Amino acid sequence: MKKVMLTGVRPSGNLTLGNYLGAIKNFVDRQDKCKSYIFIADLHAITSPKDPKLLKESVENCIAMYLACGVDPKKTIIFKQSDVLEHGTMGFIMTFQTKMGELSRMTQFKHKSQGLGKEGVDTGLFVYPTLMVGDILLYNTNIVPVGKDQQQHVELTRDLAERFNKRYGETFVMPDVYIAPIGNKILNLQNPLEKMNKSDSGDNRGTIFLMEDINVARKKIMSAVTDNLNCVRFDEENQPGISNLISILAKITGEEIASIERRFSGKGYGEFKREVADRVCELLSEIQTRYKGLSSEMLDAITTDGAKRARRVARQTLAKTCKALGLD
Ligand code: TYM
Repeated sequence: MKKVMLTGVRPSGNLTLGNYLGAIKNFVDRQDKCKSYIFIADLHAITSPKDPKLLKESVENCIAMYLACGVDPKKTIIFKQSDVLEHGTMGFIMTFQTKMGELSRMTQFKHKSQGLGKEGVDTGLFVYPTLMVGDILLYNTNIVPVGKDQQQHVELTRDLAERFNKRYGETFVMPDVYIAPIGNKILNLQNPLEKMNKSDSGDNRGTIFLMEDINVARKKIMSAVTDNLNCVRFDEENQPGISNLISILAKITGEEIASIERRFSGKGYGEFKREVADRVCELLSEIQTRYKGLSSEMLDAITTDGAKRARRVARQTLAKTCKALGLD
């Protein structure tokens, strides 16, 4: 029997090179071998208020990006989270299985709620992880490919699944997180101590967007912050900027880190950055060419069909969960 793989992206802006290398690429590389689901986490996007028009555009952009990045609708079920109503109910049930302490310990919550105080922080931000737990459990998922920042949420999923199974009888499949060894945390090019995000506090000079103008992307790489050691070496602690660029190159090309270090031994950062920029720009132009060939009608048809197929499984798992709880 094929393993079930599932992942999702929150449509809260334009997708980045970090999203692609940290999650989507790992998913695409395995979609043949698994029963694969990928969804647009649009309910997760409303954990804080959003302009409805912008949200709609972001959702469409995200579906198109999945296809442009190589997700194949013949091999993978692609759907919008809000089209499968079972996500809301399952998220609600999982919230009720969780302690406030567990949610308070989530690093992302701590990071995003910094300075807001109890009065100012959205409850959506607080219960965000339990909606994600529901997403994963609904499909009997075995593998969840995500970037490092989502690892804790998948670990919470395992804890809650185990607790539920013990309390109410065997109901959920235990999911494993898949964090790729390279590229699981792509860093901001201007501040390599921070993760590359869909929006950064500066003017986005540290973020490469998948739909970015190729020349702008090239400039961003050429002006990435490095160090003055002048040695292309993978040393995340002392050379975070250079190590980040090595990870990007290694993840795109599949070349071993040691081989990149050898090839650039004794060479300057300019030459190294030019190669990284060339490979990134090639990748972006392939993605952008595929993106331009897509129409709204095509995307609609794919997600309508995807939601129908996803719902069949989600409905069964939710029914089983309700039965275990005595709610059938
Ligand atoms: P989101 O939208 O923040 O990010 C989507 C995926 O991209 C990964 N990622 C990165 N990987 C490496 N380097 C980076 N700089 C980088 N930035 C983002 C994230 O780890 C993620 O895998 N909560 C999720 C969406 C979600 C989900 C789920 C994922 C909702 N339900 C169920 C998996 C399973 C999120 O906000 O991802």
